[in-house]
Amino acid sequence: MKEKKYEFTYTVYDDISELPEEDQWLLNEAREVTSNAYAPYSNFQVGAVARMANGEIVAGSNQENASFPVGLCAERVLLASISSLFPKVPIDKIAVSYKSEHQISDHPISPCGICRQSLQEFESRVKKPVQLILGGMTGPVYVIDSASRLLPLAFTSEELR
Ligand code: THU
Repeated sequence: MKEKKYEFTYTVYDDISELPEEDQWLLNEAREVTSNAYAPYSNFQVGAVARMANGEIVAGSNQENASFPVGLCAERVLLASISSLFPKVPIDKIAVSYKSEHQISDHPISPCGICRQSLQEFESRVKKPVQLILGGMTGPVYVIDSASRLLPLAFTSEELR
């Protein structure tokens, strides 16, 4: 018998102003894109914006539905757009932000379990890590070097070969 330990390191910035300028811009775009969310049921609006390896910028926001399970998170809306527009281009980084009628947006949120699975598959498909920049409208910002770090022991395409 042996025990294994999983740990990862991520960076916490006290404020957006501590980020490199390019990343500040991306996070501010994510903040703006929250306004494109269709979230009348949760009133929780999420924006996700990617900087692609080819320099393109692609945005996504959560899109809900009266049939609740039909709704999609901003991250998966974004990944679906990217895979349709630029199927083979790696993503350098994704910034995610949110606003809500019910709480102050002063801390980062991190992707839900389904989105972690989608991000993991994207990374392994294009063989390049996706950096995540997570922040609210104000407050600290988390930078994670690879989205897959959020999904240890993931179920992957390797199992289906
Ligand atoms: N949501 C996202 O879009 N991304 C996340 O990382 C967490 C949750 C959405 C799903 C739903 O429309 C709303 O936020 C409330 O869960």
